[in-house]
Amino acid sequence: MNFEALIRPHLLALKPYSSARDEYSGTEGIFLDANENPFESVTGEAHNRYPDPYQWEIKKKLAGIKNVQPENIFLGNGSDEPIDLILKATCEPKENNILILPPTYGMYKVCADIQQVEVIEVPLSADFQIDMDGVFDTVNTATKIIWVCSPNNPSGNLIEPGSILQLIKAFPEKLIVVDEAYIDFADTASFIEKLEEFPNLVVLQTFSKAWGMAGLRLGVAYCNPFLIKILNKIKYPYNLNILTQHKLLEALGNEKVKNEFVKVIIKNREELESKLSGFSFVKNIVKSDSNMLLVKFEKAKELFESLLDKKIIIRDRTNVILCEESLRITVGSQEENQKLLEEIEGFYSKKAS
Ligand SMILES: Cc1ncc(COP(=O)(O)O)c(C=O)c1O
Repeated sequence: MNFEALIRPHLLALKPYSSARDEYSGTEGIFLDANENPFESVTGEAHNRYPDPYQWEIKKKLAGIKNVQPENIFLGNGSDEPIDLILKATCEPKENNILILPPTYGMYKVCADIQQVEVIEVPLSADFQIDMDGVFDTVNTATKIIWVCSPNNPSGNLIEPGSILQLIKAFPEKLIVVDEAYIDFADTASFIEKLEEFPNLVVLQTFSKAWGMAGLRLGVAYCNPFLIKILNKIKYPYNLNILTQHKLLEALGNEKVKNEFVKVIIKNREELESKLSGFSFVKNIVKSDSNMLLVKFEKAKELFESLLDKKIIIRDRTNVILCEESLRITVGSQEENQKLLEEIEGFYSKKAS
């Protein structure tokens, strides 16, 4: 594969900003190179120094957990950052296009729209799987990226790994980005284990879901080191702040806690699904491999508004393709789910009386 052909030519040639911490990465010495404050921060904590721009300590630890090399890892300010950077790295505005599989996560299209990169949409099938013929008929020479979200948001289901693999193999000259934001909740292996075999594969994961760290903004792209070098060239120099870096290091020693969260959330999801499926006003629930349920209700919009009045906030997906009359519910704690169920039942019994 000629990987360079995937990258915008001017970025191959780009001379990136060289930060003080690029030029000297040691941790000991008298630091008079970055125009920092030599004292502690005004809060009394030591945030006065710039952080490691490449977050090597974290990458080494994470590499051990994920069984990859540190050079296969890009850490971003949420996975929204690598989503944006991968697009910027590869797509010429008004020339290239990306292919998405709606209904899916919204940022793939938003990032492309901002950059004036055309978005080709091949909707998923009625059972939220890839329309493979549709993809093969639609991909063209200007396509740089195929975005696959698995488990998918908002349907919550896993995309057949066999279909994803087929795309990776069929389009070696395009990037196949598999967004695994919800992979911890699915009973399947990550595509990370196929990275060595396929240089055109990028796997996105995030610390926002199972790890419970959405507020810290931490996403990861796992891919070949050549692409990582390009992403590093075009990112902001210090894209992960020092607090986030410290917290992530701490979190990586607590993987067991994440696994406990996952167990409880899956149990709660199963309970919620089972209770919802007993109601006559529930028309369908997509089988979920994530921490969300896409549920088709009678009078979905009215229900959504009524829940909002009660300060129970779920997501109205009724205007989204293949999600007609559907609301997306994030699985909460047992108490939250119980309250939700009571309010749903209350809404329909009021309607009936
Ligand atoms: C599929 C998918 N990818 C990525 C993200 C963004 O995650 P992050 O918080 O890491 O930016 C989300 C957020 O909901 C998502 O659903």
